[in-house]
Amino acid sequence: MNEHAIGTQPASSAASIAFFERVNHITAETTHAPIPTYATDAPAHDSFGRRIDYLRISLTDRCNMRCVYCMPEQGMQFMPRPELLTTDELLRILHAAARAGFRKIRLTGGEPMLRRDIVELIGAVKAIPGIEHIAMTTNGLRLKSAAGALKAAGLDRVNVSIDSLDPVRFRFMTRGGKLDDVWSGIQAAQAVGLTPLKLNAVVVRGLNDHEVVNLAALTLHNNWEFRFIEVMPLTGVAGVAQDGVVSTAELIERLEAAYGPLASLGQSHSDPARRYRIAGAAGTLGFISSVTDPFCSTCNRMRLTADGRLHLCLLRDNEVDLRGLLRRGASDADLEQLIRHAVMIKPWGHGLPDGVLPTLRGMSQLGG
Ligand code: 5AD
Ligand code: SF4
Repeated sequence: MNEHAIGTQPASSAASIAFFERVNHITAETTHAPIPTYATDAPAHDSFGRRIDYLRISLTDRCNMRCVYCMPEQGMQFMPRPELLTTDELLRILHAAARAGFRKIRLTGGEPMLRRDIVELIGAVKAIPGIEHIAMTTNGLRLKSAAGALKAAGLDRVNVSIDSLDPVRFRFMTRGGKLDDVWSGIQAAQAVGLTPLKLNAVVVRGLNDHEVVNLAALTLHNNWEFRFIEVMPLTGVAGVAQDGVVSTAELIERLEAAYGPLASLGQSHSDPARRYRIAGAAGTLGFISSVTDPFCSTCNRMRLTADGRLHLCLLRDNEVDLRGLLRRGASDADLEQLIRHAVMIKPWGHGLPDGVLPTLRGMSQLGG
């Protein structure tokens, strides 16, 4: 562990720039250089002492919606099929990741349920020694008919995005999504036990911020966690995002005006959501403040893109190319070494010097 250990961030901006230059200069290109050999008898930790055990896998960058805060209306270029990891490649990576200490998997997209073999894939991931938990973040459009099969295959839980309870506004924000379909998907997930259910809303000022009181009301009688997410300015949506951020502090103020003081439930380790409960409510509220109050010190995650790169931090461009190594005929042991190396060089992402934003990928390639 070094001087910028867990719970601390560099204080002055000059120190902070030097700090980020030091930890963030390593990019995908360096993966062709020789890497150190890592011990394989303990779970992987990064250079800040963070234990990294949570992998979010983007199964595809495609989606059957076009949320305004996620994709631009026009000009989206999707990955050509040969670029995507095959199911066999993905499973080889996941076996190696589990050996390196990853325990929790989340399937994301784009929309993960567009992957045709999703049910079989979940069954195969569930069977990997070491993997303890599989969740999925979905837009819910296809959940109604598939929920039972997903549960039977071994999926533990789902997070479903629902930004509005008004069908017309929902259609506008998602550029075409049908609220009814998502709602029946949520009911189906609850019925088959893909629980505890979490619902997500990205809050954008002027679009759905006036709905937060109604959205929070869903927790009064349902044992759900409703999570409000600050919109992040990633590639393709920076315009929407920069003018649209509604801070968690402002949201809490508005909710307390409607419901009285919210009881703080604190933050469980490695969950970025700060949790609260409305007095007497069955469920809870979560606030994910990536913009106004980042949570790097407890970060335990990395992302795998659909084209086989480990993306080391949501707000940095640093990636490690696993697919290249696989397609050059690497052994399982090589793969595990590169995954351990990726963990070791995982950056400290937020609090960047002003004006520096990641440019490589948009949210639809990173899966939230
Ligand atoms: N900022 C924050 N969250 C986003 N998501 C998509 N785009 C953004 C953004 N710009 C979230 C969605 C969904 C997940 C796939 O990513 O709400 O929960
Ligand atoms: Fe699709 Fe989710 Fe992005 Fe909306 S936020 S366009 S549902 S990937």
